[in-house]
Amino acid sequence: MAVTIKSSREIELMREAGKILAKTHEELERALKPGMSTLDIDRIGEEIIRSYGCIPSFKNYNGYPASICVSVNDEVVHGIPTKKHIIQEGDIVSLDAGVIYKGYHSDAARTHGIGEISPEARKLIEVTRQSFFEGIKFAKAGNHLNDISAAIQAYAESFGYGVVRDLVGHGIGSHLHEDPEVPNFAMRRKGIKLQPGMTLAIEPMINAGSWEVVWLDDDWTVVTEDGSLSAHYENTILITEGEPEILSLNV
Ligand code: MF3
Ligand code: CO
Repeated sequence: MAVTIKSSREIELMREAGKILAKTHEELERALKPGMSTLDIDRIGEEIIRSYGCIPSFKNYNGYPASICVSVNDEVVHGIPTKKHIIQEGDIVSLDAGVIYKGYHSDAARTHGIGEISPEARKLIEVTRQSFFEGIKFAKAGNHLNDISAAIQAYAESFGYGVVRDLVGHGIGSHLHEDPEVPNFAMRRKGIKLQPGMTLAIEPMINAGSWEVVWLDDDWTVVTEDGSLSAHYENTILITEGEPEILSLNV
């Protein structure tokens, strides 16, 4: 599939999808409390998304059974919400969500600390978030995709962290996953040239230890191989003539 350039009508719909997703994340953050199950988080998230007239895009995507991916501590991404998994003070919880508004997608992730968390955990969350912003400094027409990828990696690795290689960001639009793939690490080629109207989901997944990950037997949950903590931060962005527009972050 070729990389698509969105029309102004499509961009308008993606802006709306992004705004709703940003609000969903804000509301979910406020709802997070120790003692909740990860399934509670999924239920609340799905309700919020539907209350805005949107469809949770992850639900039943390739058989994924929930609306919100909830990944705790050493879980990197795609954790499956369950009644039995209770979140506790000191945990770090990555929430990944996607919405469809009038046929157009937005995809975003945040990692939150539950109550008091360790300084190491706080730093990992902050560096992961900042690595996204370091990356999008290069998300400008005329630059190449690899400029973004390399900047994310250089920033995260400067703290000694591991940049996950097995999963990548992606184009997004009328489908959740479109071309191009958006790695969070440098490739040996420049990648596509960025053009106004391209929409990308950029999503660094950063481990406190090694970059290596393994899949659990549920075939979804990705965990760090060494058991170290992992954080995730993602937004859907639009390439413009000037600065990139972050569609899934309300200012
Ligand atoms: N943000 C995730 C991604 O881009 C979406 C989760 S995939 C799902 O891969 F299957 F869990 F929906
Ligand atoms: Co994504």
